[in-house]
Order: sequence, then structure tokens, then C-alpha cells
Amino acid sequence: MLDKKKIDGLLSDYKGFRIATICSHSSLQIFRGAREEGIKTIGIVQKDKRKLYESFPRGCPDEFLEVDSYADVPWKELAARNAIIIPHGSFVEYVGEEFDDLPLPVYGNRRSISWERERDKMLSWIRKAGIKTPKIYTPDKIDSPVMVKFPGAKGGRGYLIVRSEEEFRQKVKNQECVIQEFIIGVRAYPHYFFSPFRDKGYATKHGELQLLGVDRRVESSADEIARAVSIGMKPRMAFTVIGNEPMVLRESLLYEYMEIGRKISETSFDLFGGLTGPFCVETIITEELEIYAFEVSARIVAGTNLYPDGSPYSVYYYNEPMSTGRRIARELKHAAKLGKLKEIVY
Ligand SMILES: Nc1ncnc2c1ncn2[C@@H]1O[C@H](COP(=O)(O)OP(=O)(O)O)[C@@H](O)[C@H]1O
Ligand SMILES: [Mg+2]
Repeated sequence: MLDKKKIDGLLSDYKGFRIATICSHSSLQIFRGAREEGIKTIGIVQKDKRKLYESFPRGCPDEFLEVDSYADVPWKELAARNAIIIPHGSFVEYVGEEFDDLPLPVYGNRRSISWERERDKMLSWIRKAGIKTPKIYTPDKIDSPVMVKFPGAKGGRGYLIVRSEEEFRQKVKNQECVIQEFIIGVRAYPHYFFSPFRDKGYATKHGELQLLGVDRRVESSADEIARAVSIGMKPRMAFTVIGNEPMVLRESLLYEYMEIGRKISETSFDLFGGLTGPFCVETIITEELEIYAFEVSARIVAGTNLYPDGSPYSVYYYNEPMSTGRRIARELKHAAKLGKLKEIVY
């Protein structure tokens, strides 16, 4: 992990800053939000994708930096242009573990990305926060349908459901995996934003937390399986993410979700110096209204793309359209004004 002092040194040499990220769906709201806050932007793009992002004039960056491969972030050029990186899902996926040593200022705490990358670490974070997680099984204890998760599976692809030890041995063999209790309920993905600057939001030990939206993922075949079942088919249950739908939580859950966000946030300070900025906790709510968390994304998530003009929650904080992308730009602008960029950039 690159030394924080190195990043602080880079930041000290910056004259102003630009916001930069890899062009992706989330980058549209990141660039648009920056534009609304008067901050210039740079989009890292593969030549063949430039046309696509240029076609959204209000979501495209002020300038493009073309690359052959996203694995090679042109960090020298970006540093010369005073770029602060905004990580999103595709960014951390393309860059992989090199992200930890990326010699560029990154908005947020780059350590948080290594905590989301490793499933064991991530689950220990959720447990330490005192939030329920699905039970973990060893193969010999499988007595009901369980979910088998393989390392590095992206967008839920490749997960298996097995019903017995025998089926497990047959289908999984010796592959590395986690066996999780299958939780029946409704999934909800709350989008939080943590700021150490105490602007407005739900108070935590280290700052304030906002809930900027909630979504639910649409996954295939899981979310449409009733149609197939009703005509007598028995398709495999799969979890490939196809898109996202907006959601609001029933009233009684709002407090619980603010508390989940607070606990994840406060625990991040105990574990690795604190997560700042946007994050998401992936949860399932059972019919008894018990909430189980199975994943944390320590950055902006795709579900926030539902709310480029704000959400049914953001309107209670801001009297203007506030996407997560714009909230990031505003936070950086605010920190720069206070001379405290180093507190939220690593
Ligand atoms: N313990 C569980 N019980 C029931 N469904 C689950 C469980 N864990 C994950 N899922 C389903 O599988 C999907 C993908 O799981 P997740 O672990 O988040 O993988 P990814 O890393 O691809 O996001 C979830 O969105 C959810 O629909
Ligand atoms: Mg997930």
C-alpha cells in the first residue's frame, strides 16, 4: 500500500485539482456533478469507447485521455494535470490490486478498497460492526439450500446453489469458495455518503452520514424465475446483474438502515483509518424484518445511477438536485476551501 505521505506530497504540489476517472456509467454522474460544482474533469477512455461517452454531452468529461488498456492508468499525465481519482466499480475491477499503489491522489481512503476486495476481510468488517451476516457452512453441515460463492466472481456470475454435501462435492470439487446460508427476503442496497466535515446528516462518532438513495438489483434468472416456474420449467437460479431498480424502504426500516450505515462507518475507523465518501451495504430483509448484510462496496455503486437528479432521500438534505456524483464534487470543493483535502484523499 502506497505511503500516505507520498500522496500528501503530491497534493501539496497540486495547483487546484481536476476530477478524473475511467469512463463508465457512473462516470456520467461524476462528470456531470463536477460540472455543476464548477470542477474540470478528465475521462480515461479506450479509443473504441470514446464515441459512446462523447454522445452524452452533459455526462462527458471536459477532456479525454485515451488509453490502450484500462489496466495501465496514465498516472504521470494525470498527476501533471492535478487529477484526483474517483474510484468506481469498473475502476477498481480494471485496475485490480495495482490500485493499492496507484501513485495518484484518490478520493476516499484507498485502504477501504482492499477491505471490499477480500470476502473474508469484508465479512469480518460487517460482523465487527455488529450487523447480522448469513451463516457460513462447512460442506458436511449443509442441510438446506446454500449459496456457494467463488472468489472474484463479478456481478454475481458463477454462483451455485447446492442442497447437500453430496451435491457440493460433485459440483464444486476442490475449488476455493465460501458456503453461505441462503437468506430469503427482499434485497435492498442503501447508498450512504460519509463526510467528516459535519455538514448535515445522521451524526456518527467521526462525522455525518447521509442516505442518498436505495436501489435493488435486477438479477437473472433469480428475479424473473417465477414466470419460468409457473409454466413448469426448472431453470437454474443465477444472479447475473442486469440492471437496477429504485426503491424506498418501509418507514420502520429507516432507523435501522441509518444505524447500519453508522456502524459500518464507525467500524471502518477502528479497522483501517476510516472510509470517507460514498459506500453501499448489500442487504436482505426477511419477513420478520431482520436485516442481513452480505457485502460492502466502499465506493460509489452503480445503483446511484438511478438518481442523477437526486433521490427520494437526497431531497431532504438538499434543495437542489444532488446525485452521489455531485455530492463527491461538492465534498472535494468544500475540503479544498478548508485546506483539508488531505483528510479525505489518499
Ligand atoms: N446469502 C445470500 N442469500 C441469498 N441471496 C444472496 C446471498 N448472497 C448473495 N445473494 C444474491 O447473489 C447476488 C450476488 O451476490 P454478491 O455476493 O453480492 O456478489 P457480487 O460480488 O457479484 O456482487 C446478490 O445480489 C443476491 O441477489
Ligand atoms: Mg454484491
